[in-house]
Amino acid sequence: MSSLKNDRFLKAARREPVDQTPVWIMRQAGRYLPEYQAVRQRAGSFMALCKTPELACEVTLQPIQRFALDAAIIFSDILTIPDAMGCKLSFIEGKGPVFANPLQAADIHRVAVPDVERLSYVYEAITLTKRALAGSVPLIGFCGSPWTLSAYTVEGGSMPGFPRVMKLLREDPILLHHLLDVLAQSVCAHLNGQIEAGADAVMIFDTWGGLLSTENYEEFSLYYVKQVIAGLNRGKALHPVPVILFTKGGKNWLPQMAASGCDVLGLDWEVSLYEAREKVGAKVALQGNLDPAVLLQSPAEIRQAIELVLKSYGGGAGHIFNLGHGITPEVNPEQVGLLVDWVHELSKPYHQHQ
Ligand code: CP3
Repeated sequence: MSSLKNDRFLKAARREPVDQTPVWIMRQAGRYLPEYQAVRQRAGSFMALCKTPELACEVTLQPIQRFALDAAIIFSDILTIPDAMGCKLSFIEGKGPVFANPLQAADIHRVAVPDVERLSYVYEAITLTKRALAGSVPLIGFCGSPWTLSAYTVEGGSMPGFPRVMKLLREDPILLHHLLDVLAQSVCAHLNGQIEAGADAVMIFDTWGGLLSTENYEEFSLYYVKQVIAGLNRGKALHPVPVILFTKGGKNWLPQMAASGCDVLGLDWEVSLYEAREKVGAKVALQGNLDPAVLLQSPAEIRQAIELVLKSYGGGAGHIFNLGHGITPEVNPEQVGLLVDWVHELSKPYHQHQ
């Protein structure tokens, strides 16, 4: 028995029957919410917000208070690990993340797994949020994949195509493997810290896996994701903490990803849920995959698009509704309210006679 009042999300992750399809939204605590903007302002900077557990807890709860979401995700960022490694992260308006100390070849020889004490603000935020949620909905912890983190740290920030890490891959793959190995150990330790603090599920974001060829994806991304998953302390309880693996642009590698040890595959909108289900069978649950741009359309169009996603999955157990990528800042929060309520309403018939 789960102690959660709403355990649809965890049941769907285990492919158990539910009454309605659970729904949550990537970046649900974010800039489209005026109340987020207000706290962000109060914190002074994005990193100050991340590093103040009381404020991180407050913004994590904001979308849960507004909408009938089936899961919360802790407010943090995937780039907190490189920050703890000494890369010094800041976010610059209109530019995104920037590292004061990007990793050059000489630095990579010296990189080490950071003491997770340096990320204790994340575990404190999780502890506070679990207490505040009081068993209402589960809380998701997360991290970036080693490959995606290597792309940001070698580049020093966001750059289309991430040319520096791609150059390193071609010219010194052994050095890149060393970096990926250290990042995999760091990610594993960080996820274990989040699980220990109370995260009910964890998600691995491989945002830039899609930059790679199939061979390189398996060698430089999936291999390390598997190491991370294998190293998790998922608990000895009846239901171990589920792992969600999201690879943006990963539509060609669904069977390999489904065999990684994850429980749920997060999908972008480039693949239909029907096709994904055909490819992975009942091996894993599926999460996704409404195009975030639909939230900028009319309510009637949103309703129709939800119906198409539900129909594409085809009903039955094992679907968690989400967007195919993060929600964008221009979205009107009222449209999000409609989305959440309509996913619940429209999915009911798909769960009868189970
Ligand atoms: O989903 C949630 O509500 C939890 C919070 C969360 C954030 N970042 C907060 C955030 C999560 C899960 C992330 C993950 C993350 N961070 C990813 C993987 C997911 C994805 O989008 O593919 C990546 C690549 C990052 C790195 C990152 N953080 C970038 C590139 C940016 C700038 C781009 C942008 O959207 O502005 C961020 C900043 C960031 N992380 C914001 C939020 C709410 C916006 C910054 C702000 O408030 O000023």
